[in-house]
Amino acid sequence: MSMPEGFADLGRILVIIPTYDEAENVEPIVARVRASVPEAHVLVADDNSPDGTGELADKLAAHDDHVHVLHRLGKEGLGTAYIAGFRWGLTNGYGVLVEHDADGSHQPEQLHRLLEALRDADLVLGSRYVKGGEVQNWPRTREILSRGGNIYTRLALGVPLQDATGGYRAFRRETLEGIGLDQVASAGYCFQVDLAWRAIKSGFRVVEVPITFVERERGQSKMSQAIVLEAMARVGRWGVAHRAAQLRGLLRGRRG
Ligand code: GDD
Ligand code: MN
Repeated sequence: MSMPEGFADLGRILVIIPTYDEAENVEPIVARVRASVPEAHVLVADDNSPDGTGELADKLAAHDDHVHVLHRLGKEGLGTAYIAGFRWGLTNGYGVLVEHDADGSHQPEQLHRLLEALRDADLVLGSRYVKGGEVQNWPRTREILSRGGNIYTRLALGVPLQDATGGYRAFRRETLEGIGLDQVASAGYCFQVDLAWRAIKSGFRVVEVPITFVERERGQSKMSQAIVLEAMARVGRWGVAHRAAQLRGLLRGRRG
């Protein structure tokens, strides 16, 4: 039996690219996604970037019917940009929704790996920390923060994931429909842990595939201390709630 051409079996694919001040990056990244998986559609979710990223995206959309733009009023965080993008994609009938950074850190040429793995999964995480995965050009401090964040997440939640904080992912639409997007309150990057944790708790199959994460060459990261603190506080709270529930189950088991 030969492999099917493309990914038609998965349904229509939407690659969501959130942007805030990515004027130098938006055109090349959209072009790379379009070249890598030509049948996929792209949704740029822009938060009214002062540098004109939204208008550049509009120009791309005017010349390519596979490119769409969602304009939001102002900078409201990566998590809410993705939720708005997911809702747009679900409303418009896409079967697969992909998270993809604009800044060149995620390689569109590796999107095939995520989509192939999605054939036997409900959520695929691009992972820097499984065998074959890697990070290029990160300062040591940022790597420590990321690895520490993942150790903290594993200890707090007991999830068997090597990279729960990464932002290169592919969801089946049923997964997003099943995890209760309405209740996701995380605004910043802990949104990533939030969604992976919800998917696991809901019984979905979550799989990691190796990716090469390359630190951006142009523009600036929007990561901040406030974002890190939000993540630590929220994951800590979920962990306490989870451990308390486990303990209650254990005590009930002993009594009964
Ligand atoms: N619309 C919108 N609104 N986009 C945003 C916002 C926002 O408030 N904040 C960031 N973005 C966009 C950026 O323009 C970029 O395309 C993408 O989201 C990632 O932002 P970066 O600022 O480059 O993130 P990073 O490199 O520090 O973090 C990446 O790695 C983390 C794990 O190490 C992201 O993939 C994170 O999701 C991930 O947790
Ligand atoms: Mn980045």
